Amino acid sequence: MTIQTIKTTPYTDQKPGTSGLRKSVKQFKKTDYLQTFVQAIFNTVEGITGSTLVLGGDGRYFNREAIQIILRMAAAAGFGKVILGQGGILSTPAASNLIRKYGAVGGIILSASHNPGGPEGDFGIKFNIRNGGPAPESLTEAIFATSQHIHEYRIAPIQPIPLDKLGHYELAGMPIEVIDPVADYMDLMESLFDFDKIAAMLQSGKFNMRFDAMHAVTGPYAQRILEERLGAPAGTVMHGQPLADFGGGHPDPNQAHAKELMSLLFARNGTIDFGAASDGDGDRNMVLGKQFFVTPSDSLAVLAANATVAPGYRSGITGIARSMPTSQAPDRVAAKLGLPCFETPTGWKFFGNLLDAGRITLCGEESFGTSSNHVREKDGLWAVLFWLNLLAEKQDSVANIVRQHWAEYGRNYYSRHDYEEIDLKAANELMAALQEQLTSLPGKTLGKRTVADADNFAYTDPVDGSVSRNQGIRILFTDGARIVFRLSGTGTQGATLRVYLESYEPDSSKHALDEQVALSDLIQIAADVARITEFTGREVADVIT
Ligand code: G1P
Ligand code: ZN
Repeated sequence: MTIQTIKTTPYTDQKPGTSGLRKSVKQFKKTDYLQTFVQAIFNTVEGITGSTLVLGGDGRYFNREAIQIILRMAAAAGFGKVILGQGGILSTPAASNLIRKYGAVGGIILSASHNPGGPEGDFGIKFNIRNGGPAPESLTEAIFATSQHIHEYRIAPIQPIPLDKLGHYELAGMPIEVIDPVADYMDLMESLFDFDKIAAMLQSGKFNMRFDAMHAVTGPYAQRILEERLGAPAGTVMHGQPLADFGGGHPDPNQAHAKELMSLLFARNGTIDFGAASDGDGDRNMVLGKQFFVTPSDSLAVLAANATVAPGYRSGITGIARSMPTSQAPDRVAAKLGLPCFETPTGWKFFGNLLDAGRITLCGEESFGTSSNHVREKDGLWAVLFWLNLLAEKQDSVANIVRQHWAEYGRNYYSRHDYEEIDLKAANELMAALQEQLTSLPGKTLGKRTVADADNFAYTDPVDGSVSRNQGIRILFTDGARIVFRLSGTGTQGATLRVYLESYEPDSSKHALDEQVALSDLIQIAADVARITEFTGREVADVIT
């Protein structure tokens, strides 16, 4: 079959952000926009001839069309085989697992994570490397550089592949295997957690849980694992059917967007003991107890402290890593266990080297991401199953487990305030104004706290020595409190300012405060130091998590 070479003109905006190239659907539908970027990936990644590519997405609008195009381009690029999730579906952690398990050269995951979908929403494309993890910065930058000089792409003639039917197909001589997207992932989970114990708890009639798939990719995974395999009652999984527009919702598992789940768990005389949710592509998780919200930072700390309850981690963990803005709660666990704790820039790609080198077992981000060395992505359902394993082992409530953790380690009050879709220029000016203050801040008293240090976070990867600068402005106080400012690298409209607030309270008689109350003075300091209202025109944050 003849491969066609199509002339094209480079787009100037194909620079991947925190997690792949994420743009509006409208942008992705511009002539050859997707093709240009895919060709840039194929021209940059080494060793693709004859090797395997894993392909799938979160099922959002444009997923299926994009898959047909990528299959034709993969055939033209000389891949030996494509492993494709049935229906074009693969959660991000499941794709990461498949890449590792089947020795693929990499994978393409189509997702804009928690961003809304549909014709007016967003679309995205991520390339994951051989270890199953997101492409490191050096590769995303090389892909971007290549994209700036793409003048043609290569594609096989149209030949629609039946995405919904399991089996073996061929496109221009390249084999395609359409696989069950859940099976391999479920096997992996079963190898890590005590399924018998979890099943006994879920079937006992004494434990009530809800998992909110938010009409996104984890629906089929959760139904198969929680309801079919572990025997949780039907109806345990809410919004389990993946929809191209996520039912019009915002598939972001947090207090602001998983409203229905929140109201079930926080109902006055509620009967649900455990609530959890995941996002568009299945890598995020939110964990709730009865009238209790577990911050993702605390979740990582609690799982690290109790890792050995799960069969997969029975022999202990080697270390922990957290992204810089994530609270320092995990650091305290690492210190007690005598383990290293690494502080990395925001974005999962920075954990890859540490995991590959065996220096850490668990890692997480405040942005509802937690995972381990079982894949090279964050993993929503993994975190939920870990919590279920912990609850089944301890036979105690979520709230008690976390409160006991605070009593032992102290509580890191934590919150993130987001100012969304602000003017890009104003956002850059705000950050520049903060940068200018860095040298004068140390020693200053702000409210009741004294600044110990202030910097713009830079990270040197301990494994390969690569340096990443400009990763967020930190104001560190003498009492362990912190304020961090950074601009989002995943938004598609204007800029989003994220303000991360943290204070440490060792005294357990002071652990019952609402976090917004406990952090109120820091919230004011942040507003004053960064002159947030002056630059953004906003009095309060749009989303508080
Ligand atoms: C956000 C989160 C970050 C996460 C990323 C991808 O990136 O803050 O922790 O890794 O989404 O899920 P940001 O928009 O802040 O750049
Ligand atoms: Zn995601």
